[in-house]
Amino acid sequence: KIPVWLDCDPGHDDAVAILMALHLPQIDLLGISAVHGNASLHNTVRNAARCLLAFGSTEQIERIQVYAGASEPLIRMSRVDNEIHGEDGLGGVEGLPDASDPAVLAKLEATRGQSAVLAIADAARALPKDKKLVLVATGSFTNAALFVSLFPDLVRDKVDKVVVMGGAEGRGNRSPTAEYNILTDPHAASILLNHEISVIMAPLNITHTAIFRSHDNETLLHAGQTPDADSLVNSTPATTSSSHPVKAHTPLRHTLHTLLNFFAATYKHVFDFDEGPPVHDALCIAYLARPEIFRSKRYRVDVELEGTYTQGTTVVDLYDYRKDELKDWLEDSESRKSWGKLGKNAELLEELD
Ligand code: BDR
Ligand code: CA
Repeated sequence: KIPVWLDCDPGHDDAVAILMALHLPQIDLLGISAVHGNASLHNTVRNAARCLLAFGSTEQIERIQVYAGASEPLIRMSRVDNEIHGEDGLGGVEGLPDASDPAVLAKLEATRGQSAVLAIADAARALPKDKKLVLVATGSFTNAALFVSLFPDLVRDKVDKVVVMGGAEGRGNRSPTAEYNILTDPHAASILLNHEISVIMAPLNITHTAIFRSHDNETLLHAGQTPDADSLVNSTPATTSSSHPVKAHTPLRHTLHTLLNFFAATYKHVFDFDEGPPVHDALCIAYLARPEIFRSKRYRVDVELEGTYTQGTTVVDLYDYRKDELKDWLEDSESRKSWGKLGKNAELLEELD
């Protein structure tokens, strides 16, 4: 199993990523951290705990901790996205425990005052010799940038890669050219992309091919595709064995239906998407579980930090224009020798079977 840490800003599609990370057999979810983004940190950390409690097994609910990370971007002001995800980040979703449910509060209390970034480091450090952590980031990259900056040696030894949802080749979503996760903290994105760690990126170009369509909704509501999926979507949230039982609720089938339909409605309203919403963040987890269904290519990717109209835009160097500019820099620095790694600093997921 791949040891995974999920850093997220739930968020409807983040919630799908949490569900998949908890249940795909290829993945061993070690911890969850929240970051500002779709909603305030106050809400995203509660939402992460609500999802864990609703989707996890009793064992996972007890073992996996949820940490609050950065509440603000490194430099610019935060920018929540109520229009897409509702007031609290998970608008319209039925069947999750409330944010004030004692089980949610107990989960948050367990890590109160602890740093998310240190928790990620501890999880990497605690892995056996032959294992390395995969950090998945599906919100803005503030926590991820802090982690790779603060722990360069640990990252080199014990982190295999960072898999992120973010960026776009061309058209953006929350500005004409910028994608939301990059736009919310462009400086953090730039730090992550310029770090020597291997970065795999799921940009809008591929996430907009992973649409939850109305026939998927029919399947979700009426028939599972496999006995496992069927028993999962028919289950009600686990009851913790602690003194705070989760107050549950409707079958997961209904919870997912309300989640994806709210998301579909906001995508229709904001972007006039008729087909259904892209489940952006879920692709990071799908990639880890089934890399063979993706095609990818390495590029130099820079983040526009100052542009008058283009702040947060990912500039993807499709034709290697920057190769010569970067040559000296690449040759000068000890850890930055290979064009293969840092020059072409991100592997972009381009197609999905
Ligand atoms: C990204 O922004 C958020 O709305 C989603 O959760 C996803 O991570 C898509 O641009
Ligand atoms: Ca997200």
